[in-house]
Amino acid sequence: MRRRERDTRRRERAYRRARIRHFLFTVGPHRVSGGRITRRHLAQEVVVNDTELCSPQWPTSFDGLRIGHVSDFHLGDLLPLDKALEVVEELGRQQPELIACTGDLVDLDSPDSGRVLEALAAIDAPLGCFFVLGNHDELHDPRGLVRTAREVGVTVLQNEAVCIRRNGHPMVVAGIEWAKSSLQCSRFVDAAAGDENPHLLLAHNPKAFLQAADRGIALTLAGHTHGGQIAFKSRPNANLALTHRHSAGMFQADGSLLYVTSGVGAWFPLRLNCPAEIAMLTVRHVPEEEEGPDVRARGKNKRRGRRKKKRRGTA
Ligand SMILES: [Fe+2]
Repeated sequence: MRRRERDTRRRERAYRRARIRHFLFTVGPHRVSGGRITRRHLAQEVVVNDTELCSPQWPTSFDGLRIGHVSDFHLGDLLPLDKALEVVEELGRQQPELIACTGDLVDLDSPDSGRVLEALAAIDAPLGCFFVLGNHDELHDPRGLVRTAREVGVTVLQNEAVCIRRNGHPMVVAGIEWAKSSLQCSRFVDAAAGDENPHLLLAHNPKAFLQAADRGIALTLAGHTHGGQIAFKSRPNANLALTHRHSAGMFQADGSLLYVTSGVGAWFPLRLNCPAEIAMLTVRHVPEEEEGPDVRARGKNKRRGRRKKKRRGTA
């Protein structure tokens, strides 16, 4: 059987499984609760989290780069178009220099994905808007999604890298397709990086970080876990995403950094101690000698609710 046919069949099976999961964890609770659980979920706010990330491996010419990192919209029953567009509008208000969308734009299939991509591309981010595919994006029509993204001006990275410039200085941004295992992530990271030396890697699966850190890539941005959606208070990395060592927030290894966003959407209508987020990341270069022997990279985090921001604006 040809590879393309095999891929199509694999995708069809995955799509059927995803529909069953959707019925059990979204449609079922919605019906049983008379719609209350879905309404309560949709009323929850998406917070803006400001995080400063410092690494000696980050290029000095991109010191202070402000990245707007969004992921896992899961457009569909648990994130309708109007709420998704509100999130993109809020992202635009944060004035990112670069936008990174790390996959799962759609849940099962969504005719609205083009509208969201268009809105993301319309944000005036001088270094552009980048997108990588997540596992859900591959369920229905990944080629169509990629085509639409490119048509509206979003750069889709499929195991490839591109060079961006800030004040004339170059930096390589790489991105990989959906990969389930660490081994596959590793292969894709190598394919994307090639002979280049990327400083920034976008991957849906945070498992790509192992290989990224091995290669000395300064910063990896990922999603996929949704921060587990249910977490212990004040311990975001202790959550339901049990199969992921890196499931929420900032991590570092040998001077390389990983940020895993809790995402915008959801795959079941409940979040506890784990709000949906827009991650605003300010990435700084720090000289190696300023760091202690054990900590070569660090981050600090400040959470802002949308309501709080509005109050500030009107004060
Ligand atoms: Fe997701």
